[in-house]
Amino acid sequence: MAIRLGDVAPDFTVDTTEGQVQFHQWLGDSWGVLFSHPADYTPVCTTELGTVAKLQDEFKKRNVKTIALSVDPLDSHLGWIKDINETQKTTVNYPIIADPNFEVSALYDMIHPNASDKFTVRSVFIIGGDKKIKLILTYPASTGRNFNEILRVIDSLQLTANYSVATPADWKQGEDVVIAPAIKDEDIPAKFPKGHTKIKPYLRTTPQPNL
Ligand code: BEZ
Repeated sequence: MAIRLGDVAPDFTVDTTEGQVQFHQWLGDSWGVLFSHPADYTPVCTTELGTVAKLQDEFKKRNVKTIALSVDPLDSHLGWIKDINETQKTTVNYPIIADPNFEVSALYDMIHPNASDKFTVRSVFIIGGDKKIKLILTYPASTGRNFNEILRVIDSLQLTANYSVATPADWKQGEDVVIAPAIKDEDIPAKFPKGHTKIKPYLRTTPQPNL
């Protein structure tokens, strides 16, 4: 059955470029981003893995571990990493799962047979500190992902997990947020002491509360 938001991320034990990983244990208290690739030694994937390597400090700041997957075997991944490091001028320092038997990709429904029966699509799963799925994205093989968007979503998810707010379209760190509809007008001043603006009864904004 397909994985849905709020489900516990399926656990697995698998070989990776950083040794064997038991997924839940490896996550520990961290959040996680699990993302899949169609195949090794492909151009778009090469740029994506390099981009995620360069963004490691940003993921770490947010207590997020990243783990990639492609259905090619470990020796292929290890050779490919050398190319990624060389061409993208970085060091891949997070695990890439070897999934030649499609075990993890089947568990996470990353094969979309009408797109390809052998390659994983570009899936992204964001997993919270509670091991639950917070976001699912699916991109076609021909479109590289925007990993700054993944970081932006993590900022929103981590903020909205702790405050009764939601983030509007295109929101970025530091911008005003939307007060959750469940909060009554009379409770707003105590909950949001930085002030608020009532644009409509259902549209109330406040400065980002955790800054
Ligand atoms: C790529 O990563 O460049 C790619 C992989 C599969 C199909 C098309 C592009």
